[in-house]
Amino acid sequence: MSKTVPIGNASGIIPVVGLGTWTVFGQQGNSDEVERATLAAIDAGYRHIDCAWNYGTQPGVGKALEAKIKEGVIKREDMFLTTKLWDTHHNPCLVIEELRDSLRQLKTDYVDLFLIHWPTALKDQDMSGETICPLDENGKGIPADHKLEDVWKAVEECQKAGLTKHIGLSNFNKSQVTRILNSCSIRPVASQVEVSPYFSNRPILDFCKEKGMTLTAYAPLGAPNRPWHESGQPGPVFDEPILKEISASKGKSIPQVILRFHIQRGLVVIPKSITPSRIKENIDVFDFQLSEEEMTKIASLDRNFRAFAEPIASNHREYPFNDDS
Ligand SMILES: NC(=O)c1ccc[n+]([C@@H]2O[C@H](COP(=O)([O-])OP(=O)(O)OC[C@H]3O[C@@H](n4cnc5c(N)ncnc54)[C@H](OP(=O)(O)O)[C@@H]3O)[C@@H](O)[C@H]2O)c1
Repeated sequence: MSKTVPIGNASGIIPVVGLGTWTVFGQQGNSDEVERATLAAIDAGYRHIDCAWNYGTQPGVGKALEAKIKEGVIKREDMFLTTKLWDTHHNPCLVIEELRDSLRQLKTDYVDLFLIHWPTALKDQDMSGETICPLDENGKGIPADHKLEDVWKAVEECQKAGLTKHIGLSNFNKSQVTRILNSCSIRPVASQVEVSPYFSNRPILDFCKEKGMTLTAYAPLGAPNRPWHESGQPGPVFDEPILKEISASKGKSIPQVILRFHIQRGLVVIPKSITPSRIKENIDVFDFQLSEEEMTKIASLDRNFRAFAEPIASNHREYPFNDDS
């Protein structure tokens, strides 16, 4: 199996395993931790790093890239870097400014993929805004009134200016993707959505695939350590007997079996780890194959359970998860 896939219908490829860099929940990310993780990832053979402006960890990625380029281990063009437009920067005047800020942090003059992180615009903030998530008295995100179609046009301008090779979407539902496809002058080549063994997310995956987009699975391991895990919710997925059984028969770890399952579904995966042994483990998934029967068994774990339901945006007019439309 190839370690890269084409990026949408565009010329170019994306490595099927990337490093996730969102390290903490609801606080500023730990950039030093991510610098060490990125160094370990590049040494382990990763050539794809998934970043976002709001993670707060891009400076760490940037330092690691600079060090590895200086050492001669990689060239910039060997790497596939993704970053994302945060919700408080949907004002078309802020879009390119945010991307330039990300490029400064990442110490590069272009990224490979720039995604709209969420369709839910929040109140405008400048790059040094007090909070990444302005909330009202009920703890809900304060919306901004920017039209998705206009945000996309500003994202297209970033590609035209050479600041990103490709552009795409994240957390958009089918009708939102359709609106972009109907109004764009440059089509999105990729979509990033939650996919785990408990959440196959099939409708949006099938839809985006039909539209020629490459799909990336975020939280591919089910975000096992997320602090908002509640009793009654499924998981952690690593305890599932089916996975234990397949893991034992293949001589591969449970995370490796899960990641291989997604890859055989045609997905790109971006597991996050700051632990060097796990970083190595998560990319060591190309020397075995799951049978159709094993794929079916793992698929039976689907509970249609979304770990990232984004409740702070549930009242937003662009909240994407009310239905499958
Ligand atoms: N577009 C979006 O809206 C969106 C939303 C969420 C996430 N993402 C992206 O997707 C990435 C991955 O998602 P995620 O971080 O939420 O969840 P995840 O990758 O499913 O799970 C990460 C957790 O699993 C642990 N882990 C990783 N590999 C392991 C292994 N081999 N064995 C045991 N534990 C392992 C990590 O621990 P250690 O780090 O302690 O090793 C970490 O706590 C993010 O980092 C981010 O880049 C995007």
